[in-house]
Amino acid sequence: MNGKTTVNKTASRREFIKQFLAGLIGGVLGLLPFAAGLVVFLDPMRRKSASNGAVRVASLEALPADGVPRKFQVLATRVDAWNKMRNVPIGAVYLRRTKEDQVEALNVACPHAGCFVDFVPENGRYHCPCHNSSFTLAGKIDDPASPAPRGLDTLEAQIRDGKDIWVSFRNFHAGRAKKVPVA
Ligand code: FES
Repeated sequence: MNGKTTVNKTASRREFIKQFLAGLIGGVLGLLPFAAGLVVFLDPMRRKSASNGAVRVASLEALPADGVPRKFQVLATRVDAWNKMRNVPIGAVYLRRTKEDQVEALNVACPHAGCFVDFVPENGRYHCPCHNSSFTLAGKIDDPASPAPRGLDTLEAQIRDGKDIWVSFRNFHAGRAKKVPVA
């Protein structure tokens, strides 16, 4: 009687271990597709925005030869965690010819509080409608009473292939005397 009980106990222990191992292996194998799916799901979070760097803003022939500035919207490709969006407006610039084959770019955002400035052809100055800052054609502070702590932010501009204007567009923190890029 005792021998039979011991044999039964050993058999049921073996059965238990077998079932436990089968369950464990099944659980691990079941997790693999989930882990792979999680990697695919989270992958976009590791990608960087494609809008970093220079973007084509306008053609050179769109700029008047007399150096009068023109305003252009800046469009770029934006990549967030899960989407890639093309031609998203990320800001605006004033472009003007400083020579026949040379272009200057200014961010239109006023460095005081970020309103967009207007170019006033009558006096060849930029004016901010929010608190009346004014800037010269080159973007320097014009009226010393202007509340803006610095001139308009210059941006790097290049002419490529003799016809396209590319701008390294950045926004900078408003309200500071120093030009500090927004991350
Ligand atoms: S935002 Fe331009 S002067 Fe205040």
